[in-house]
Amino acid sequence: MTLVGVAVGGLLAVVAIFIPWLPEPASEQAELVDNTYWLVTIICVAVFAVVAGVSVYAVWKFRAPPGDMDDGRPIHGHTGLEIAWTVIPVVLVTVIAIYSGVALAQAENLDDGHRTVEVTAQQFAWSFGYPDVTLENGQPLTSGELVLPVGQSVEFRIESRDVIHSFWVPEWRMKQDAVRGIPTRTVVSPTKTGTFPVVCTELCGLGHATMRAQARVVSQTQFESWVQEEKRLAAEAGSVQGETLFVQNCGSCHTLGDAGTEGEVGPNLDEALPGKDADFIRQSIVNPDAKIAGGYSPGVMPRTFGETLSGEQIDGLVEYLQTATKGG
Ligand code: CUA
Repeated sequence: MTLVGVAVGGLLAVVAIFIPWLPEPASEQAELVDNTYWLVTIICVAVFAVVAGVSVYAVWKFRAPPGDMDDGRPIHGHTGLEIAWTVIPVVLVTVIAIYSGVALAQAENLDDGHRTVEVTAQQFAWSFGYPDVTLENGQPLTSGELVLPVGQSVEFRIESRDVIHSFWVPEWRMKQDAVRGIPTRTVVSPTKTGTFPVVCTELCGLGHATMRAQARVVSQTQFESWVQEEKRLAAEAGSVQGETLFVQNCGSCHTLGDAGTEGEVGPNLDEALPGKDADFIRQSIVNPDAKIAGGYSPGVMPRTFGETLSGEQIDGLVEYLQTATKGG
């Protein structure tokens, strides 16, 4: 029977060890986490084997013969055994505590020249901000896809706009809650290129299961070209937005070739703006009577654009007008 027990136990252990419970590790932290996990697993298997083995043996060896209704013989216990089963667990638990403490400290180690990514969670999407990458409009680059260069450690600063979410890339193992009003952080140093899922692991509402994004780890060069491409796209989107704003707000009064408007109430901007700086353009939008072009009267252009347009919209408009009139 003992042999059968050992055989079944061994078989189950083999099955358990070879089931891929977690995907292939793809970060330095994943190795640390997995090693800790295996250390604890091995200790657990050993303790379980000893306890189960002794129990099964005792049940078989000391079972009552049929018809025996006597009480068991009273015994006093065994001091040596009691010391052993107190000291051994204390040692094991201490080993686990020290090992995990060291692993945790190493996992949070940041290289010099690490990268920072701001993770924003909201029902039910992730967005990733790159404070180290500034776009033309002075804003940091943001993306719905998490793109990182391989071999560089990253500090994730995590925050939520609403309820509690949790940021997790299984291949990186590190997991951290996103809580509104309480910035949290975690560190990851990706060691493998590839595409990995970003998963929300905190039940956050009806769309929780769909709250996923993609993490793409690429070479340093590919990362640089991704950044350039994102900058270009953002600049393009910015000028398209500027053009729309111009047509909607200014086009009926001002002529501007780039936007295709032919208004004649105010100055022709193709003639008035070349050579003017951003401050002049901004002032002319927000406080139009400050400087009046020759042949035009004050008080004609609305003085309310500073209120009806947001700061960002005015920035976009100024930037658009500068680029649209630069080529002359
Ligand atoms: Cu966000 Cu679950």
